[in-house]
Amino acid sequence: MDISRKNFFIGSAAVVAATSLKAAVREPVGKIQGFDESNESKTDGPWEPFSDKKVRVGIAGYGVCTFGAVFSFQDHPNVEVVAATDLDPERCKKLAEVVHAKRTYPSAEEMIDKEGKNMDAVFIATDAASHADLVLRALDRGYHVCSAVPALLGERQLDRAPKMIEAVKKSGRVYALFETTAFRPQAIAMRRIYEAGGFGQLAYTEGEYFHHSDPNWKSIGSYKGWRIGLPPQYYPTHSNGFYTCVTHGHFTEVSCVGTTSDHPVYKERKNPYGNPFHSEVAFFKTSDGGSARMTVAWGLPGYHGELGRCFGTKGCFRNDRFAGDNSIIKNLKLIRTGLPPGVKNNGHHGGSHPYLTDDFLRAILVPGHKLCVDVATALNTTVSGVYAHLSALKGGETLKIPVFSI
Ligand SMILES: NC(=O)c1ccc[n+]([C@@H]2O[C@H](COP(=O)([O-])OP(=O)(O)OC[C@H]3O[C@@H](n4cnc5c(N)ncnc54)[C@H](O)[C@@H]3O)[C@@H](O)[C@H]2O)c1
Repeated sequence: MDISRKNFFIGSAAVVAATSLKAAVREPVGKIQGFDESNESKTDGPWEPFSDKKVRVGIAGYGVCTFGAVFSFQDHPNVEVVAATDLDPERCKKLAEVVHAKRTYPSAEEMIDKEGKNMDAVFIATDAASHADLVLRALDRGYHVCSAVPALLGERQLDRAPKMIEAVKKSGRVYALFETTAFRPQAIAMRRIYEAGGFGQLAYTEGEYFHHSDPNWKSIGSYKGWRIGLPPQYYPTHSNGFYTCVTHGHFTEVSCVGTTSDHPVYKERKNPYGNPFHSEVAFFKTSDGGSARMTVAWGLPGYHGELGRCFGTKGCFRNDRFAGDNSIIKNLKLIRTGLPPGVKNNGHHGGSHPYLTDDFLRAILVPGHKLCVDVATALNTTVSGVYAHLSALKGGETLKIPVFSI
């Protein structure tokens, strides 16, 4: 998908309906779904250098998605990768080679505890269950930290949310959630339109993350099986991000419907979460006074993707098109700027990876830079999904959602 001046249509519903969406294709056989999209957008001007300094980064995690190595830290001119770790010695060695790390550690905990003043920041790319505690540990030791999604995993970790807010406040360090939706071309365009008032009142948002898998997630695997039977709305950031990372607002209430399955993983709740649902659709009230429908589905084949749409009183954005008042958006930069020399966009997750890294580095090095997915947006995006799952377990009961701010 390519949002550029050339194909950015305004107005006509017929034109909007006639466009096709590259992401809406059948899943390719043999590829890890969601990890190899290549819809890199054209750029709107070059990357501008912002500092002569280098941030010394330690990277944790080289699992099935090789996440520690695919966010371009090793290529960014403002980074020196000083350390790498994975619990698995072979993965640790490979990660260190790929990111050119000087030192290795047998665990993220050891890296965080022992690097001392030789490291400034940590990238937590370990399994989803370990993020929150490693983030808290890194902030406590005085490091800036970014993590893969989600910010925390499930009801059992809800107590970490206020601790993360406090830790950021107390340390004065940056915490960024690497939510890939935030720097997808569509989300960038929608954020700029929203901030310029192009939607008017944002009355309705849709987001969805379809990722079909067998209930045991044999096709991907996961450390200690954290993906097996995962409640879909415990992994809500790719869908919720189409509201929270566009508006920086939050959800206030949720009612959610879960769909059950005959497979023993769900029917007999043979999973670490006691979860009976393969797919969950949440309906939220938003802080804009509107609503949002956010879907996360593991059990629905034939479609894969992360997509979102915003509908406001002055216009709407769907597929890769804005339909509304052209005069409001005509001077906006709706596509991404270029990347630093040496950084090549790998196209993963809509080409979002290097933009998340660049945003994190700017938040560290540029005074006053507003991080896109800061700790408040990270938690508002993640915790709302946990409440959605709790609502589904209660047959769709409406639940109030706590709000996080910094
Ligand atoms: N679009 C996206 O944003 C997106 C896509 C894919 C994966 N992810 C996230 O990326 C993360 C990594 O995914 P994955 O599939 O590679 O995970 P995985 O479960 O396959 O691997 C996790 C790795 O972390 C290592 N690890 C766990 N605890 C550790 C510790 N204390 N110290 C050092 N290493 C440790 C494990 O040994 C393992 O190699 C997950 O949190 C996942 O949610 C996000």
